Amino acid sequence: EVWNPSGRYRVISTKPMPGTRWIKLLTDQDCRVEICTEKKTILSVEDILALIGTKCDGVIGQLTEDWGDVLFSALKRAGGTAFSNMAVGYNNVDVDAATKNGIAVGNTPGVLTETTAELAASLSLAAARRIVEADQFMRAGLYDGWLPHLFVGNLLKGQTVGVIGAGRIGSAYARMMIEGFKMNLIYYDLYQSTRLEKFVTAYGQFLKANGEQPVTWKRAATMEDVLREADVISLHPILDKTTYHLINKERLAIMKKEAVLVNCSRGPVVHEVDLVEHLRANPMFRVGLDVFEDEPYMKPGLAEMKNAVVVPHIASASKWTREGMATLAALNVLGKIKGYPIWHNPNQ
Ligand code: DGY
Repeated sequence: EVWNPSGRYRVISTKPMPGTRWIKLLTDQDCRVEICTEKKTILSVEDILALIGTKCDGVIGQLTEDWGDVLFSALKRAGGTAFSNMAVGYNNVDVDAATKNGIAVGNTPGVLTETTAELAASLSLAAARRIVEADQFMRAGLYDGWLPHLFVGNLLKGQTVGVIGAGRIGSAYARMMIEGFKMNLIYYDLYQSTRLEKFVTAYGQFLKANGEQPVTWKRAATMEDVLREADVISLHPILDKTTYHLINKERLAIMKKEAVLVNCSRGPVVHEVDLVEHLRANPMFRVGLDVFEDEPYMKPGLAEMKNAVVVPHIASASKWTREGMATLAALNVLGKIKGYPIWHNPNQ
């Protein structure tokens, strides 16, 4: 699909993206926009090389693609200077290889913070209250009357929510769980962010002033403290060498037997084979997963586990957010082409 065929700058999007605002932004600024409509979901390096061709100024790519030296040097040879991932995560992008080839890299933070946090909250509830299991039971025609033990799950109010990685998304999730369900908070974060502490302190004062039991909060000295103490744990770190398989057999073993674990970050943060074993051995332990180690596949056995709620990497999937991500990605590429600093550069 081609927009503004006579445009001076050739910009490629490796996938159709929601909305038309991003296309207009580019075409209004003398860009010819080419959108790849190839049916297969994940494009290979060879597919993208063919798209780049011999003249290309910038590319908007997706988190399923492997953006390393092969693609960045091809983009450089084609005269390109700009690449943006349509995602906040950029573990699929070798930023050093891009820099070496003189390509600026952009990502799309901010617009997906609340949407992603809402999905983490939804998975926390779905897992704690066994919603998917109960839905399947209903549809299978198995409900034959109310019973005291039917799908008994966990009450969130007054329990402790644990957050690992208190950046934008982790902090938004924590706020939702504290305000929505009056949960106490324990969190672990490598960076000295104070936004969460300010919020919980002010909220605690508000509850007290209204005669309600204030919530408690604690910044944990170690990640293990969060795993040991929390009833619901949500993972929000970036994926890099230090967070690969952060949650493994040993760390699963120290969590409460009835804990809920949620992952909306990146699949390889959790050792999925260890997780399946843990779910099998501990039927009251539950997980809500949006991401998987070998996406789009699940490790053997996970699909059969009743104590797992699984969804296909949809944390940022609201119309407003996806249109916003497309717009930011277009602005990133346009900024560089037009000689401004790139809008969102993960290295800055
Ligand atoms: C991201 O942006 O990194 C998410 O995984 C997809 O929205």
